[in-house]
Amino acid sequence: MKKDFLTLLDLSADDMHSLLKRAAELKSGEDSSSCPLLGKSIGLLFDKSSTRTRISFQTGIYQLGGQAIYINTKDLQLGRGETVEDTAKVLARYLHGIVVRTFAHSTTEKLAANAGIPVINGLTDLHHPCQALADFLTIMEKKGRLRDIKLAYIGDGNNVVNSLMEAALLTGIDLVVACPRGYEPDRKIFENVISKGGKVTVVTDPEEAVNEADVLYTDVWISMGQEREVERRKKIFKQYQINGQLVSRAKSDAIVMHCLPAHRGEEITDEVIDSPQSVVIDQAENRLHTQKALLEKLVR
Ligand code: CP
Ligand code: NVA
Repeated sequence: MKKDFLTLLDLSADDMHSLLKRAAELKSGEDSSSCPLLGKSIGLLFDKSSTRTRISFQTGIYQLGGQAIYINTKDLQLGRGETVEDTAKVLARYLHGIVVRTFAHSTTEKLAANAGIPVINGLTDLHHPCQALADFLTIMEKKGRLRDIKLAYIGDGNNVVNSLMEAALLTGIDLVVACPRGYEPDRKIFENVISKGGKVTVVTDPEEAVNEADVLYTDVWISMGQEREVERRKKIFKQYQINGQLVSRAKSDAIVMHCLPAHRGEEITDEVIDSPQSVVIDQAENRLHTQKALLEKLVR
């Protein structure tokens, strides 16, 4: 039966660990000649802008021997009212997998339910699971372990942190989220993670969150689709910036992460994102390696 990757919890804890291990192997150059996607085509259906997700999937698919077909959904008949269901059924007759970036998470579920091929979530308003795979490979590389790691996320309780919470559950990492009241991560995802034993805490004070942290993480205050809330959000999140002062409250060897793109001067300062503690470019590179491991696992 085909497997989709719509949220991190489509993986078991064992799957997650073996996928990260395989990604590290692929990164090291082992198996560079294997072409599991030879003769296969993967469609990239994007409703939103992208630099990392799009290019890392396109090059990763090529490196695995396959063909990536990038489609801005505005150019499909979807944009003229064809249903997601019909689109999914037809695309499954041509393609061997679909990567989708869209607004409503339910669109990925509809695609997955109607396409007999694997569907991979390349970001929705609710989840960004491919990002979390790369993030956890990066933490493993930089810290040498996932056990006994404290990750402090500062900022908006958005798609990125929803997936980090699920990754925390799969790996046992200790995640503390600092966000303003009313901007917490998704309640249902949080409660599910907690009920299954995930170590996730939500606080309002960034200084409390970063205390003894091994990893600091932030993301934009205004996600794609929230452009009408710019001014209000800039005021609300002002205290939720990763700057030199906040970094000095974490462990002295703490690393700083950001999924990118960054709004420098808002959620993170130039001083911090360009500092030796920042691992954001390695983190972006790891999108390629983890997604190759994912494609290898899912696409048959
Ligand atoms: N982090 C990330 O998903 O970046 P893009 O929006 O550029 O794909
Ligand atoms: N939270 C951001 C992530 C971008 C990669 C957004 O959804 O726009």
